[in-house]
Amino acid sequence: MSNNDIASISPNRVRRVYICGNGKCIHRSAAESVFNHLLGLIRTHQMDNFEAPYRVKCQLAGCLDICTNGVTLVVQPDSIYYWNIDEEKAEKIFFQHLINNQPIEEFRYQPNP
Ligand code: FES
Repeated sequence: MSNNDIASISPNRVRRVYICGNGKCIHRSAAESVFNHLLGLIRTHQMDNFEAPYRVKCQLAGCLDICTNGVTLVVQPDSIYYWNIDEEKAEKIFFQHLINNQPIEEFRYQPNP
């Protein structure tokens, strides 16, 4: 997916964030920290509310098949994978991607060519 594809992404009524909690890519406690931080932001901004114009759901999930480089997550239905995510990066993803609909290219999963 190129930068042009990112620009064409339109807001989605419900986004789902799946964070790998499998424990092979990084210790599960790191994934839980990112999950708890993101969940706190979602709740603070009431994006978990059924009445919210753009809802976000977040959960720990199984393996996302990119088992290296730290905490990995995927935002659906955008199908955008991020890796090596910490709480600070998760917060940037929350505000820039989930609220402003602009995925963060520098945090995205980059498969080996
Ligand atoms: S174990 Fe985390 S992505 Fe595979």
